[in-house]
Amino acid sequence: MLILERIADLRRQIQAWRSQGQTVALVPTLGNLHGGHQSLMETAGEICDRVVVSIFVNPTQFGLGEDYENYPRTMEADQRRLREVGVDALYAPPVTEMYPNGYENSTHVEVPVLSTRLCGAARPGHFRGVATVVCKLFNMVLPDVGVFGEKDWQQLRVIRHMVTDLALPVEVHGAPTVRERDGLAVSSRNAYLTADERALAPILHQTMQAAAAELRAGGRAVAAIEEVGESALAAAGFRPDYFTVRRELDLCAPSPDDELETLRILAAAWLGKARLIDNIPVAD
Ligand code: PAJ
Repeated sequence: MLILERIADLRRQIQAWRSQGQTVALVPTLGNLHGGHQSLMETAGEICDRVVVSIFVNPTQFGLGEDYENYPRTMEADQRRLREVGVDALYAPPVTEMYPNGYENSTHVEVPVLSTRLCGAARPGHFRGVATVVCKLFNMVLPDVGVFGEKDWQQLRVIRHMVTDLALPVEVHGAPTVRERDGLAVSSRNAYLTADERALAPILHQTMQAAAAELRAGGRAVAAIEEVGESALAAAGFRPDYFTVRRELDLCAPSPDDELETLRILAAAWLGKARLIDNIPVAD
């Protein structure tokens, strides 16, 4: 596996693959790789001839007081996993390569409206940081395909919106959420949970499943279902940021004529030091 830290080296390698007629997929990550990331790499390998994984803990998507400094950095274990999966190249640039003018002064990409909802409301500036770094990664790697997880549904919608608006020549592929056996979505931040909190954590997914079942049964209004969900999480010891039913494309509140197939349940809730997020479709 190639390990590249500089844009020039990366471009030379991508160009060599392209001149042989090979296609390239990019899987952007923050590192601390787990089974969710691995499934994206495997999907990428099915779609394209070459797979590049980026590892970059992006300072501009972390807010003040968030976990940028403490975010788990596990480069050796990550490289082992990447080799096992058979990834072609790791791109791990230093901050100065990503933000040559300093990240406080960086030109940025802002996807309006979508970026202000849900996690964007709880984490101002977060999606601006995500859109900016993903746009830069696309410009550096020039991949045919970018693979992202549905686990971060709002992020996926923000990236698709950016790619359409800026006519970026990249196909965005969404891959399903990988879960632990008990339903908890796999995430690097699950490591922040104590053993007791870890035992409670699957209640998030269970509460979302119960809400989806209620919506399908058609008995209760959306607002009531959201309230029940949020209270159930609070009663179990979570501190919910939101528990909501939204249209899956624009993340607006649904209107009565929206089909169940177009709706998703999205939730974010703190459990101890971990902010857990998850989403599921309303339809089976
Ligand atoms: P990170 O949290 O490392 O996630 C990298 C990719 O893995 C994202 O596309 C995310 O949706 C996906 N992913 C995470 N957990 C998953 C799971 N359980 N199942 C399926 N996919 C999962 O998301 C980011 O990094 C960053 O914001 C990034 C896009 C790299 C920009 O910095």
